[in-house]
Amino acid sequence: MAKILSGKEVSARIKGELKIEAEKLKESGIMPGLAVIIVGDDPASRVYVNNKKKACEEIGIHSEEYALPADTDEAELLALIDRLNGEKSISGILVQLPLPKGIDEEKVINRIDPQKDVDAFHPVNVGKIMVGNYDFVPCTPAGIMELIAESGIDISGKECVVVGRSNIVGKPMSMLLLHQNGTVTVCHSRTKDLKEVTRRADILVVAVGRPNFVTGDMIKEGAVVIDVGINRMADKKLTGDVDFETAEKVASAITPVPGGVGPMTIAMLMKNTLKAAVINKEDN
Ligand code: GUN
Repeated sequence: MAKILSGKEVSARIKGELKIEAEKLKESGIMPGLAVIIVGDDPASRVYVNNKKKACEEIGIHSEEYALPADTDEAELLALIDRLNGEKSISGILVQLPLPKGIDEEKVINRIDPQKDVDAFHPVNVGKIMVGNYDFVPCTPAGIMELIAESGIDISGKECVVVGRSNIVGKPMSMLLLHQNGTVTVCHSRTKDLKEVTRRADILVVAVGRPNFVTGDMIKEGAVVIDVGINRMADKKLTGDVDFETAEKVASAITPVPGGVGPMTIAMLMKNTLKAAVINKEDN
């Protein structure tokens, strides 16, 4: 039976540490603040934004929500970002993705001051991650690194397979594993023999957005399996991209859904927000 890598537990521990850090910052006159922008009424995005606000309250970070209607025009959103970029009380700005059709996501991300880009989506921060000299680590991959550490496995020299090549997870994930001397393979929809590749993995990260996509027969005995998927099923239950039942029989450690990667992403966002507060303070 695999060890369950509980993001719920690890994130609670990290948030406890961040709360103490936030108190110290505030005592020294550094006031962390996060602005969260949500456009439209995507139900999943609404849940994520609520959870982010709740985490800010828990840790003692000032947060502001900007909920804009789905028909908001791009210029209006860009003007809001400009204003928040110049706002001293705001250390971090997060625009919840996806954005409604008609708004150019890339243009919006590019408008955020890289020093306030707590998601690490701006090309300046993406480039810094690539060269290995970065302030902000993208939240989901950063949370996954913490969970891998929790499994006790040393990444150096291990076969790491990332399934999915998104800008949010797959690509930055592969870089973080590479920086820790993993031998990294990135798979995607055009990968020819996926099972042959995934079965080589000592560390397998799955982020494809397809429920139960990776099954136990695609996993090497003893692998550490990280499931990034959060898929809402017809019965309203949340299911990962990994078929938990068959996977846990072969893996040495595995993340559950829910309660695995999800809570870690939020803890890492809080960590980036505190970091942003320090960075932006130094510049004032
Ligand atoms: N949508 C899905 N994941 C994320 C995330 O990590 N950050 C933002 N801003 N939007 C998302």
